[in-house]
Amino acid sequence: MRRAKISIIGAGNVGATCAHWCAAGELGDVILLDVPQTENMPKSKALDLMQASPIMGYDSALSGTNDYADTANSDVVVITAGIARKPGMSRDDLLSTNAKIVTSVAENVKSTSPNAVVIAVSNPLDAMVQRAFQVLGFPSHRVIGQAGVLDTARFRAFIAMELGVSVEDVSAMLMGGHGDTMVPIASCTSVGGIPVSHLIPDDRMAQIVQRTRDGGAEIVSLLKTGSAYYAPAAATAQMVEAIVRDKKRLIPVAALCNKEYGVGGYYVGVPVILGSNGVEKIIELSLTSSEQAAFQKSVDAVKSLVATMETLLKG
Ligand code: NAI
Ligand code: 2OP
Repeated sequence: MRRAKISIIGAGNVGATCAHWCAAGELGDVILLDVPQTENMPKSKALDLMQASPIMGYDSALSGTNDYADTANSDVVVITAGIARKPGMSRDDLLSTNAKIVTSVAENVKSTSPNAVVIAVSNPLDAMVQRAFQVLGFPSHRVIGQAGVLDTARFRAFIAMELGVSVEDVSAMLMGGHGDTMVPIASCTSVGGIPVSHLIPDDRMAQIVQRTRDGGAEIVSLLKTGSAYYAPAAATAQMVEAIVRDKKRLIPVAALCNKEYGVGGYYVGVPVILGSNGVEKIIELSLTSSEQAAFQKSVDAVKSLVATMETLLKG
C-alpha cells in the first residue's frame, strides 16, 4: 500500500515538531518546505529526523525542500508558515503578515496538490483558515483549521492536574474561535464518565477555563522567543492521523459553518467527524442558552477578525 504523502509548509517550531510526531507515528512520508531564504534548513531538519528513525524504529521517509514541486500531489498539506507571537506583539501584527504568507502558500498548494486535505495552523487561526479556503477554492470539507484539539488538550491536561488523575480519563469539548472567546462545553466535560461538575467546584472550574483560554499566552510569556509548539504540533498530527487512517475521529476542528449553528459562512471551532475526506460531518449540539450566547460572542469575534483581514488585504 502506498504511504500517505504529508507536506508541511513552514519548517519552524510547529512544522518541524509536527514532522517529528507524524514520522514517529508512521503516518506517511513527510516533506518539510520553507522559503528559499532558509536555504537548507528544512533539509537539515528532515535529515536529522531520518537519522533518528533507526533508534526510534519508524519507517517514514523525510525530506526537506524550498520547492513546491517536491510536494506535488500530497494527500495532506499542513500550513504552519508565518510569524509566531512574541511578548509585546499584537494580534494585528500577526494578521497582516500572516494573511499575505498564507495567501502565497495557498496559491502554491492549489496548483501542486489539488486533491489534498489542507490543515491550516498559522495564526490568527480562524482568519488564516478562512483565507486559505478563499484562495484554494477547494471544497470546504478539505480545508480545515487546527485549534480545538489543542485547546481541548490544554483543558484536559489542567483538569487532570487538578484532580491528580490520568489524562486518559478526561474527556472534553471546546467550541468557538482560537482565542479569548473559546467556549468550553460543560455538559461534554467528564472524568471517567463522571460530569466534571461533581468533582470540581464551579469557582475553581472558572479558573481552569481561564487558564485554558490563556494557555497560549502563558507559554509565550515563559518562553519569550516564540509560542508553544509541542502541543500544537501533537494536535495537528492527531488530525493528520484521522485523515490518513480514515479514523472518523470526533474532535473539534475549525470547519466552515454555513447553516450549522447559524454561523453563515465562517470558519469556527465545532465538533466534527474527521476522516479521509476531511470533515465528514459537523455535529450540531443543543447548547444551553449561556453556551449559545458565549458561542455567538466567539463567532462575532471571528467575523470581526476576518473583516479586519479583508480590509488589510485590500490596503
Ligand atoms: P516559527 O517562526 O518557528 O516557524 C514559522 C516558519 O514559517 C519559519 O521557518 C518561516 O521561515 C516559515 N515561513 C514564513 N513564510 C513562509 C512562506 N511564505 N512559505 C513557507 N514557509 C514560510 O513559528 P512557529 O512557532 O512554528 O509557528 C508557526 C505559526 O503557527 C505561527 O503563526 C503561530 O502563531 C501558529 N501557531 C498556531 C497554533 C494553533 O493552535 N493554531 C499553535 C501554535 C502556533
Ligand atoms: C497557542 O495557542 C500560539 O496559538 C498558539 O499556543
